Amino acid sequence: MTAADFVPAGADLEGLRTAARGCRGCELWEPATQTVFSAGPADATVVLVGEQPGDQEDRQGLPFVGPAGRLLVKALDDAGLPRETVYRTNAVKHFRFTQAGPGKRRIHQTPDRVHVEACRPWLRAELALLEPVVIVALGATAAKGMLGASFRVTRQRGQLLAFPPSTATEGPPWIMATIHPSAVLRSDDRDQAYAGLVADLRVAAVALG
Ligand code: URA
Ligand code: SF4
Repeated sequence: MTAADFVPAGADLEGLRTAARGCRGCELWEPATQTVFSAGPADATVVLVGEQPGDQEDRQGLPFVGPAGRLLVKALDDAGLPRETVYRTNAVKHFRFTQAGPGKRRIHQTPDRVHVEACRPWLRAELALLEPVVIVALGATAAKGMLGASFRVTRQRGQLLAFPPSTATEGPPWIMATIHPSAVLRSDDRDQAYAGLVADLRVAAVALG
């Protein structure tokens, strides 16, 4: 099964958002609190695609509201991409986690390729409605999900590529991959990692013209 069985034909973004609440396209819906669909305007020129909602996002039902999201908002401001002009979504729309130990803290688990593939119909439907100038893939899960399994963020980050990757014509839409904001939080050299994220986001800002 995939999300394709749940995506309503001809729906606008609000229609997609409503339908996604009932998605059972993979097993991730069951232990999670709710579907975290997206945030941001329908006329956005930039679409950010993260990995999956985290613990806070799962509780609040909104993407990028936890620690990584706060860092991302600051990076967007520093790159000259006002956050209210940016649409934020994820490759996978339910929080995948393990729960163990005292207190049963929920620990983020990276989604597998099967989850990204099962969830892709939502992202595809969003992108078809949005018609962005630049798509920004944050981290390997989103980048591989949109650019193919052999894509390496470390090697190709910050480059504007045509999207979908098979198109012969140059963009727009462009796609650019960069590191995930949570990678900045985990980095030994946070300042340098943060500066790299902002530099990549500036490439997207410049592409807007
Ligand atoms: N990390 C993501 O990739 N997406 C979110 O929404 C939050 C954290
Ligand atoms: Fe559906 Fe995606 Fe949630 Fe799986 S992760 S149930 S495909 S919305």
